Amino acid sequence: MTPDVLPHEKLDRAVIFLGPPGAGKGTQAKELARKFSAPHLSTGDMLREHVAQGTSLGQRAQPIMARGELVPDSIVLRMVADRIDRPDCSHGFVFDGFPRTVAQAQWLGELLKQHGFKPPLVVHFVIDPGLLLRRITGRRTCKVGGEIYNLYDRPPKFDARCDNDGGELEQRLDDREEIVGPRLAAYERQTAPLAAYYRRLGRLRDVDASKSVEEVAARVVEIVREAR
Ligand code: AP5
Repeated sequence: MTPDVLPHEKLDRAVIFLGPPGAGKGTQAKELARKFSAPHLSTGDMLREHVAQGTSLGQRAQPIMARGELVPDSIVLRMVADRIDRPDCSHGFVFDGFPRTVAQAQWLGELLKQHGFKPPLVVHFVIDPGLLLRRITGRRTCKVGGEIYNLYDRPPKFDARCDNDGGELEQRLDDREEIVGPRLAAYERQTAPLAAYYRRLGRLRDVDASKSVEEVAARVVEIVREAR
């Protein structure tokens, strides 16, 4: 069972969820953010919102995301800097999908210092790659509240509708099977080296992401508490 978080417990830092596509970062980031009443900052969600709204940033990002490649730093870093400036981030926040390269991590380290935050805590989702295809192609997301389901492992109670708000469930464009390979390749090439980077800095904690959602959530809370 997931340990309860007491009302006075704050994150007081940036917690970074690092791991391959489909490892469960979004599922766990939402849960940790809810428990600690902290913002969940998903650069993927921010970019998808721009795409949905048809902003010029979204128009630039859309074809890149559809190919399963990383969006350039010129787009992502501005978006993150603006978001961290908001008052709700003053007691810490949970990053999901950021940073994704060593250059982004170095930039973030400086930004966190400027904002007076402690060094980040990085939760590294370690998972058998054989599980990822099923998790990615089975994923469906609520169009209204963003709740994440899986047709195979975490299906909604009623067909294609969110249990929480009845919202329609949709599949992400980049969750099609033919895009999964390029996304995993981009992860291995550009993002996986971050694990060694943060391990050298003593900031990395591994979590076995092949376990159930509840077991992973409980371990993540323990890791956050141990890092105080
Ligand atoms: P982004 O949205 O960040 O996607 P991602 O990193 O590829 O990760 P996913 O969202 O696919 O997986 P997840 O680990 O969050 O898994 P989830 O919890 O949903 O990025 C998308 C794109 O945006 C990138 O390709 C890039 O183009 C761009 N982008 C974003 N950030 C960027 C950056 N910083 N720089 C440049 N470009 C950037 O779970 C997956 C499924 O598994 C779900 O169905 C869920 O229900 C299920 N599940 C979860 N946990 C479990 C469990 N323990 N057991 C069984 N099932 C589980």
